[in-house]
Amino acid sequence: MPSDSPSRVLHYQGHAVACRDNETVLDAFLRAGVNIPFSCKSGICHRCMVRCVDGDIPPHAQRKLPEHQRAAGCLLSCQCHPTGPMMLAPRSPEDSVTRCRLVELTRTVNDRWRVVFEPFSTLNYRPAQLARLMSAGLDGECSAVFISVPDDDYYTVVELGDGAGLPDWLRQQSLEDLEFCLRGPLPVEQSEPVTPLPPEPALWDELGGDAMVRAVLATFYDKVYADPELRPFFERVTLDRIIGKQFAFLKQHIKDEPGFLGEQPHNSHSWMVITDALFDHRQNLMLQAMREHGIDEGLIARWSRYEEQFRPDIVKYKPWLKRMGGMLVDTEQYEVCLLEEATVCDYCSGEIPANTVVRYHKRIGKIGCDTCIGVAPAEGSPCQP
Ligand code: HEM
Ligand code: FES
Repeated sequence: MPSDSPSRVLHYQGHAVACRDNETVLDAFLRAGVNIPFSCKSGICHRCMVRCVDGDIPPHAQRKLPEHQRAAGCLLSCQCHPTGPMMLAPRSPEDSVTRCRLVELTRTVNDRWRVVFEPFSTLNYRPAQLARLMSAGLDGECSAVFISVPDDDYYTVVELGDGAGLPDWLRQQSLEDLEFCLRGPLPVEQSEPVTPLPPEPALWDELGGDAMVRAVLATFYDKVYADPELRPFFERVTLDRIIGKQFAFLKQHIKDEPGFLGEQPHNSHSWMVITDALFDHRQNLMLQAMREHGIDEGLIARWSRYEEQFRPDIVKYKPWLKRMGGMLVDTEQYEVCLLEEATVCDYCSGEIPANTVVRYHKRIGKIGCDTCIGVAPAEGSPCQP
């Protein structure tokens, strides 16, 4: 009889599947009814590729993948016999890299760099979608936006991101037939926010109720605040506040008890550029916190689903506008106003005298002196002295 091994539990999108002896990740997922694309089951089509966020990757599972995918932790699930527990995530558009040949590099009238090229394999993109360009050796990454229209234009054309200079690999003497790589196209914002899962009040009690959820969140946010990649997002948020918000949010969604007074994930995270890989990293810290509190793997999977569902509202590659009623509001910009009283600059602590026109950042509210972020106010601005 094949045996389920608790030491080979696979976490994937809110599922926890115990892999049996001699079973591949793909077969374990198919047995457990996990929805995962696949075709050949023999390492050729790469449709079953997933990314390992935590755990050991058996070398055989990466044997047929290029270096950039191996480095990102990608593996073929039909070729992977796990040797221990693994946290896995779906492949992300970040993991798709296409080789391209440069045709032309030009400067536009508004001083941007336009790159005309031929991809070596089909790129399914839409104009205004984002991508990342990098050298053939996969370094010097810079952001770019698609300009061409797939069916109308013979070549593919992108413009390099705002204010971006040329990366070194595009500054060479001879650019003729230069090869480079394109990561993406990266996903665009969904037109509708996520429809949340129905509540599961029994789950809250099975987890251990308020006390246990709070204890896990406290452990989790200790990890987040100590984490070099996640900490910067929380610069202006106290630990108590975020634990309180997250607790009320989860209780409302899982236990169906109203009490969350805050913004929905699309808006609260609108300014945060959070890639799939960073989202996975956060979910891995959550998994560790739940395990440290001895929560059963099946319950972990059920709780995780309530977090995982918000991925499309949170993962993004450039800030989004906030949606407020029917309006879109850009909080990532500066406004100018006339300061009636003297104060100090939030950046350099230098004095700003009364009756000065200052700029402040709309979301974070920091005021800057002329040297730090100053500009002359726009013509006709109400803040004009
Ligand atoms: C890498 C992933 C994530 C990062 C970096 C992140 C970061 C943050 C930060 C910095 C805040 C504080 C915002 C503020 O007070 O201005 C916040 C709030 C919040 N986050 Fe996340 N978050 C992530 C994932 C999630 C997920 C998966 C959920 C869903 C369960 C979630 C739910 C919330 C909620 C409910 C709030 C409170 C919103 C409010 O104050 O009104 N976050 N997050
Ligand atoms: S299913 Fe084809 S490579 Fe795994």
